[in-house]
Amino acid sequence: MATAEKEVETTGLVGWIDRRFPMTSTWKKHVSEYYAPKNFNFWYFFGSLALLVLVNQIVTGIFLTMNYKPDATLAFASVEYIMREVPWGWLIRYMHSTGASMFFVVVYLHMFRGLMYGSYRKPRELVWVFGCAIFLCLMAEAFFGYLLPWGQMSFWGAQVIVNLFSAIPFIGPDLSLWIRGDYVVSDVTLNRFFAFHVIAIPLVLIGLVVAHLVALHEVGSNNPDGIEIKAKKDANGIPLDGIPFHPYYSVHDFMGVCVFLLIFAAIIFFAPEMGGYFLEANNFVPANPLQTPPEIAPVWYFTAFYAMLRATTDPFKIVLMIVIAALALLALVRARGKWRLGLPVLAVLVLIFMALTESKFWGVVVMGTAVVSLFFLPWLDRSPVKSIRYRPLFHKVFYAIFVFAFLMLGFLGTRPPSPAATLIAQICALIYFAFFLGMPFWTPRGKFKTPPERVHYKPH
Ligand code: HEM
Repeated sequence: MATAEKEVETTGLVGWIDRRFPMTSTWKKHVSEYYAPKNFNFWYFFGSLALLVLVNQIVTGIFLTMNYKPDATLAFASVEYIMREVPWGWLIRYMHSTGASMFFVVVYLHMFRGLMYGSYRKPRELVWVFGCAIFLCLMAEAFFGYLLPWGQMSFWGAQVIVNLFSAIPFIGPDLSLWIRGDYVVSDVTLNRFFAFHVIAIPLVLIGLVVAHLVALHEVGSNNPDGIEIKAKKDANGIPLDGIPFHPYYSVHDFMGVCVFLLIFAAIIFFAPEMGGYFLEANNFVPANPLQTPPEIAPVWYFTAFYAMLRATTDPFKIVLMIVIAALALLALVRARGKWRLGLPVLAVLVLIFMALTESKFWGVVVMGTAVVSLFFLPWLDRSPVKSIRYRPLFHKVFYAIFVFAFLMLGFLGTRPPSPAATLIAQICALIYFAFFLGMPFWTPRGKFKTPPERVHYKPH
């Protein structure tokens, strides 16, 4: 049997190490004898690309830290010093700032792949949950990092976001004071954000990425057909539709890395600011606590969630209350057992609480719930097949509407608010939540195609 442990090298340096440390067996288990489905496509590039960008962020971050000064009187100038005086400093800085945006591009596409092929379904729930935790960490990491250049956007962005916490009833004002460490965003805030950005969050992030991959290798990869390749094995216990990750997918991923690096380099050398989307014009102005910039908008990767926050106006809160009341009525009529009364009672309590609290707080709740909802996907989706390929047409339409609503929210979050934009954002926010909340009801319905016994694969 080709188990990793039995074929361990016994001679030479490798043998010496192997008798003391599981080097060869780990390589075999996770790389050369990790059998991945043979039908991986374009969408499977983004996991390895996310790893690449993570390494890029860590390495460039280390070099930036060598010249950056986490001090409110020096921070802005130290970034300018890196850009103008430090040899290759401009390259390191642009690799890091472009890397931040590319991290989100890659991770959003990676998550979308999971959504399309049902990669979050049993037995990969934990792979997904670790992924969602990574996404949360990534958001925190980007938020803390954005304060460091100490430009106008850094300062006012942090001011706005930390102030949001003050909308939480009872503990809010104390909580935001505690986060800032001061009555306004200040040197104290900069110091703690620096500590979180350079060590605390990266450590958690790396730990989560390891957990993500260990969980994935425990159950094996999904694929565009959503078929479990481990169900059909040969006499040696090797999946019939699996191929070793190395050399097949290491070469495949290497090609993805080359294309990605071309795009990455093109952005760094020709459009590092990306028209203000990757680096905002206002952030080239030093932070001034006495002057609010005309428009405070977060970086593009937060704008979908920011648009939901802004869309939660007083009238929208009433719409949300009506939706909750309607769901409570539905539970009263349709639910069984303890849920039948439990859910409506809970809904009444929530409605009373909503009536007593301001819409700003509910904006924060809506924004937070939008991210947290992702964690529950494995248990909300009840379709009999995993991959979108074998789902009914109306499922595909729902996915398309969901993606469109999310992109629209992202776009609206970059624009100044207007009554029409707010209305569209409210509709898109409702679509976003309806997609998740409605999943247990619409996912089992419709005419499904029967997935094939073996994976589909056309060599190219
Ligand atoms: C730092 C960020 C991340 C890194 C480095 C990373 C890395 C990887 C790698 C290397 C793979 C295996 C290759 C592949 O299937 O593409 C993978 C698979 C997967 N990741 Fe991530 N990931 C990250 C974030 C996320 C996030 C945010 C989610 C979802 C919320 C997620 C969900 C998944 C799922 C479901 C799989 C299994 C896919 C399948 O087997 O079809 N990952 N990840």
